[in-house]
Formats: sequence, structure tokens, C-alpha cells
Amino acid sequence: MRFFLSLSRIANLDDMRDAARRRLPKLAFDFFDGGADRESALARNRAAFDALTLTPRVLRNVSSRSIACELFGRSWAAPLGIAPTGLANLARGGADVMLARAAAALDLPCVSSTASTTSIEAVGRAAPRHTWFQLYMPKDRAIGDDLMARARAAGAEVLVMTVDLAVPGRRDRDVRNRFSLPFRLDPAMLADFMLHPGWALDMLFGGSPRLANWEKYTAGRLSAESLAALQAQQIDASLSWADVERVRGTWSGPLLLKGVLHPDDARQARALGVDGLLVSNHGGRQLDCAPATFDALPAIRDAVGDQFALLLDGGIRHGEDIAKALRRGADFCLVGRPTLYGVAAYGQAGVEHVLRLLIDGRSRTLGLLGETSVAGLRRAAPRGLVV
Ligand SMILES: Cc1cc2nc3c(=O)[nH]c(=O)nc-3n(C[C@H](O)[C@H](O)[C@H](O)COP(=O)(O)O)c2cc1C
Repeated sequence: MRFFLSLSRIANLDDMRDAARRRLPKLAFDFFDGGADRESALARNRAAFDALTLTPRVLRNVSSRSIACELFGRSWAAPLGIAPTGLANLARGGADVMLARAAAALDLPCVSSTASTTSIEAVGRAAPRHTWFQLYMPKDRAIGDDLMARARAAGAEVLVMTVDLAVPGRRDRDVRNRFSLPFRLDPAMLADFMLHPGWALDMLFGGSPRLANWEKYTAGRLSAESLAALQAQQIDASLSWADVERVRGTWSGPLLLKGVLHPDDARQARALGVDGLLVSNHGGRQLDCAPATFDALPAIRDAVGDQFALLLDGGIRHGEDIAKALRRGADFCLVGRPTLYGVAAYGQAGVEHVLRLLIDGRSRTLGLLGETSVAGLRRAAPRGLVV
């Protein structure tokens, strides 16, 4: 069996997933790769993209193509960014910073999670102009306010408030693997760790991943266990639109709601002055019967109109998927697992490789569709018209 392929032989994101699977023990790979319950939403996200074909247009001089775009008052190299993912340092010590640096190197945004294993201050220092912050509003609203203030001070310009975690989802793979932080080691787990020595040594010397943003609020109890317990206690099932209103009043920069799938919720968000939505089902990790995000997109675009920022994540694995999302009415896309696979397998170079594969695929797709710009692609088939 070949354990390490040179990065240049990683031809697509499936190869990168395989490479991550080889480097990580099962418990870590499954934590990143898995979805809620029977993983129907996870599968649906992919199937929705695969089900759509786009018809090429020919003889339209596509020699000069640009995939750059604008969002929230600044330009980005492509309509692509890195979605927030908690516990990323379980993939590799320093993963959060590598993700942020890779995004910055390609001039793309990276969303740092409340559940990040590196503090927002450290991530912001690593990629000052490319870091956005994702907020899980905690039960203790004073902590939420403080997290926002810290994010702002760390240079985050965009706040992404995740609203689809009123109740935590349940991932069967994690149950079977007895996944917990810190690890509850048993002989099978130890054996698996020993079969993945690169990862095991990394964790041994780098320390087990910890929810760094919470360190400030645990009154000196800094063990990984205390931090995880505090975050779990702070999940708030009573979160409501009043909280969105409050956050809107506090955060002066662009505010996105993440996890909106229903057109009525989209309308309400817009009415409350939110600047955009991230159409997401949490990568199929929350409600397992949720629709594919790609399928939910057209009704949401209809609900909010053409001038409202719509981002989409869930199942994007090729530049063609980004083209499809844009054709259906998205302005911008994020990826979660692919960049985690990249950082797990090859560190920052792996993340950059993943982003480049997506961007190159996106540019090639644009040319084959007979378009030269992102705006052209959007104009070609507004509002989800399938061609
Ligand atoms: C391991 C993992 C951890 C995640 N952690 C968070 C998180 O802390 N906050 C959040 O809003 N979404 C989180 N998500 C969801 C992602 O932001 C994103 O919605 C999803 O991964 C997109 O789907 P994709 O992985 O198919 O690209 C997580 C996803 C994964 C796979």
C-alpha cells in the first residue's frame, strides 16, 4: 500500500480525501468526514450537484477569463472561501492557522469557528485581512458579546452567526468510535493510533486539541475537558430572532446568518437587516432529513431578490459545482471538509492544493460554458433556470 503520494499526484478532491484517510486514525477521519444519523443529508448535498448538467456553449472567444468577484465591498480571487470547522487541530497540530494562511495566500476568506482549536486572536494574526468569525451565540450573552468584540479586535470584518445548532446533531460514526475530547483511550483506539504514527506523534507533542476561544471563560480550568464541557453547556436551544436583532445592533460590519434553508426564514433575516445568508445544512451534520443546499437555493433566491448576498456550502467538490451554484443564484461558495482533508494529509500546502484545484476547475468550467466572468455566468441563467 502506498502511504504518501506526492502532492502533484493528487488529481482531485477524492484523492485528497483518500490521502487524509491514510494519515488519520479512524476516529479522527470519521469525525471530519461523517454526517448526522444515517448521513442522508450528507449524501443528498452531493447527489444534487451530480444530478445537474450544464450545456456547453461554443465559439465565444473565452481566451481572457476572470473568476475574481466582489463581496462585501472588496474583491476576492474567486467566489470561494473556507467554511468554519471546529476541532481542526485534530487533523494536524496548527491546522487552524494553516487553513487561514492558505486562504490568505490565494486571496480568499477563511471563517474561524467559535469552536476553533486556535483562538480568534491567533488566527487573526496569521491572516489579518482574510479572517471572518463564526459565532455560536452562547447561553451567556455576555460571552457572545465578548467573542464579537474579540473578533472585531482581531481584524475579522465579517461575522457569520450560525443558527442551525439550537440542538446538537448526533453523528453515528462518532458514537460507534466513542469519540470524545479528551480521548477515552481503549486498546482498539490505541492500536489505531499506533498504526498512524505521524498523526499520533503530532498529537503527542502538540497536545490534544482544545477549544481555545473558551479559555477566557473557564475561570482558570483550562483542561480540554473543561473547555469542551463549557461549550456544550453554552449551546442555547432558546435562540430566537430577537438574538439576531441584538447581534445586528452590536456588530457594525457585514453579518451573515449560516444555516438558513427555508424561504420564510430568509425573508425574516433580510427584514432584520442581516447582510446575507449562508445557505447551509451544516454539511449534513445536523438535521438528516434536511434538503440539499443546492436544491434549497432557488426558493431562497426568489425570497430575498437579486441584490442580497447568498453564499452556499455543502458538497462542493469541484470547480463545476461552484459554477452550478452560481448559475442557481449563489454569489459565493464555501468548502468545509475538502480543506480539512488537505490540511490533514499535507498541511498548508494541501489546503492550497485543494483551493487551487477548485479555482482551476472553476476557470476551466467557465470557458467551456462560453463565459468569461462570474457576472456573465450569473446573467446566463438567473434564478435556478437549468440549462
Ligand atoms: C469537522 C467539521 C466541523 C464543523 N464545525 C463547524 C463549526 O464549528 N461551526 C459551523 O458553523 N459549522 C461547522 N461545520 C459545518 C461547515 O461550516 C460547513 O457548513 C460544511 O462543512 C460544508 O459542507 P462540506 O463539508 O460538504 O463542504 C463543521 C463541519 C465539519 C465537517
